[in-house]
Amino acid sequence: MPMLSIPRRILKRFHPEGIPWPMSRVYNALSSMEIFQHHYELCARDVAAIQRTGRLLDVGTGPGWLLGHLAREAPGLELVGLDVSPAMVKQAGKNLGGQARMELGNAEDLPFEDGFFDVVVSTGSMHHWKDPVKGLDEIHRVLAPGGRALVYDLVTHTPREILKQAAGRFGRMRVILLWLHSFEEPFYSPADMAELAEKSAFRQGEASFVGVMCRLVMEKEA
Ligand SMILES: C[S@@+](CC[C@H](N)C(=O)[O-])C[C@H]1O[C@@H](n2cnc3c(N)ncnc32)[C@H](O)[C@@H]1O
Repeated sequence: MPMLSIPRRILKRFHPEGIPWPMSRVYNALSSMEIFQHHYELCARDVAAIQRTGRLLDVGTGPGWLLGHLAREAPGLELVGLDVSPAMVKQAGKNLGGQARMELGNAEDLPFEDGFFDVVVSTGSMHHWKDPVKGLDEIHRVLAPGGRALVYDLVTHTPREILKQAAGRFGRMRVILLWLHSFEEPFYSPADMAELAEKSAFRQGEASFVGVMCRLVMEKEA
C-alpha cells in the first residue's frame, strides 16, 4: 500500500467499502448531474478509443451510468457490471434495462474465470477497496493476455489547470465542493495510483487525467 498520511489511513479504515441502501438512492440522484454524466461520457469515449468489441467488465459500477454511455459509444462491446452492494446492483439493473449483465461481487475476489475479459474498467471505486492491490491482481487475472485495464478515480492532487477548466465549465462552487469532498474520502494521489499498479501483478501503470478523473492504464503481458 502507498504511504498514506495518518488522517487518510484512518479515513480508509472506517470508510465503508460498498454503498448500501438508502445511500445508493442518494448517489444515484447525485450522479445523474451534468458534471458526473459529462465524465462518464469522457471515460466511455476514452475506453471506446482502445476497445470497441469483446467483453468488458466495469468493477464497482454503482448505478451503471458508465455502462449506459458505453452501450451507445461502442455497441459491439458485451458489457458486464459488478458491485459489492446489492442495492447498487439493483439500481444499475433499473437504470440499464438489459444493456449490461449485472453481477454481485467484490473487486478483491472477482467471480469470473481467468482471462475472461478483453478490457476491465472502473470509475470512482478503487479508493473504496480495502485491499486495492488485491483488486488490481484480480483484474489482471480476469483479463485476457494483452488486455488493458483503465481505472479512473478522483485524486488528492488534481493539477490546478484541470480544476480551472472544470470551474469554467461547471462553475467554481461545484469544483470547491469536489475539492472539499477529497477530505472526507480516502482518495489516492496520481503517484499513489501508479505505485499500486507497480505492487500489483501488472507491475506498472501510467497515470494521467481525463477531465478531473485520474486514469491509471495497465496492460497484461500478451
Ligand atoms: C463512488 S461509487 C462509484 C460508482 C460508479 N462507478 C460511478 O463512477 O459513479 C463506488 C462504487 O464502488 C462499489 N464498491 C466499493 N468497494 C467495492 C468492492 N470492493 N468491490 C466491488 N464494488 C465496490 C460501491 O458499492 C459503489 O457502488
